[in-house]
This record gives sequence, structure tokens and C-alpha cells, in this order.
Amino acid sequence: MSQENILGFYGHDHDVLDNYFKEFQTLKNQDYARARASFRAFKFGLQRHILWEDQILFPVFETRTGMKDRGPTAVMRQEHILIKEALEALHQKVRRNDPDSGNEEEALIDLLSRHNQKEEGVLYPAIDQLMTAEEKKSLFKQMQDVPKEEYASCGCKHH
Ligand SMILES: [Fe+2]
Ligand SMILES: [Fe+2]
Repeated sequence: MSQENILGFYGHDHDVLDNYFKEFQTLKNQDYARARASFRAFKFGLQRHILWEDQILFPVFETRTGMKDRGPTAVMRQEHILIKEALEALHQKVRRNDPDSGNEEEALIDLLSRHNQKEEGVLYPAIDQLMTAEEKKSLFKQMQDVPKEEYASCGCKHH
């Protein structure tokens, strides 16, 4: 994990996740086994991303500004819950190898794209302003140290 600013790193991670998702959508009508692999990469990556934000990144903003129960991170945390619900609805289709998941895909991508725009437009730049380069370095280190078991699971044995 290279040392960068928050907007650069997290914005890039949004793009990486979008690409896994597009891969899943492209492959699901061609080769469902490969589509599942892309879905798994997307799901674990998104779970990691949300965990990083909820547990490591947002607390920086909340501590520095004193805005915790109200304010932008409270809204983003609430949206994470909705995103995880939409992700689980799609996961239920994928675990049954059911390619008829257009509605679930649309619901998830709609939530996610509006959410990501808000983070990239407002919250990440604000957090970048609040942190020194040294503090960012130690934040990236903390993110890297999160054990894989905390996000790389799906609660089912199918993939
Ligand atoms: Fe988020
Ligand atoms: Fe994000």
C-alpha cells in the first residue's frame, strides 16, 4: 500500500471495485464460474473498504471535528448499512448461480455510485485537510494490518 493522500487512495479503491463489478456483469452470461470469482473479489474488496472507513478512516474525522452522531460520517455509516444489505441481496442470487440479478445489481450500483461521489467530492478532501503526511502514513499502515479474516468471508461455504 503506497503512501498517498486519502482521496487518491480511496478513490482508486472505488475504481478497482467498480471494475470487479463490471467484470461480474460481463461474465455472468458467459461463464458463471468466472463471474463468481469476480463477484467474490468485489464482495471481499467492498467489505474491506467499508471496514477501513468505518473503523479506521471515519474516526479520524469524528475525533478531529467532534462531529460523530451527526454530520457526513454518520450519513456515510448509515449508507454503508444499506449498501451491505444490497450486496447481500445480490450475493443470494450469486450463491444460487442465478444470473437473473439485474434488479439487485442496479440497486447496489445506484447506492454505491451516489455514495462514492459524496465521499470523493466532500469527505475525503476534508479528511485530507485534517491530516499530516505522517499521520496518513500511519493510517495506511493500520489499514494494511487488518487481518484478512475480518473481511474475506461471505458467511456461506459456496465460494
Ligand atoms: Fe463508504
Ligand atoms: Fe468509500
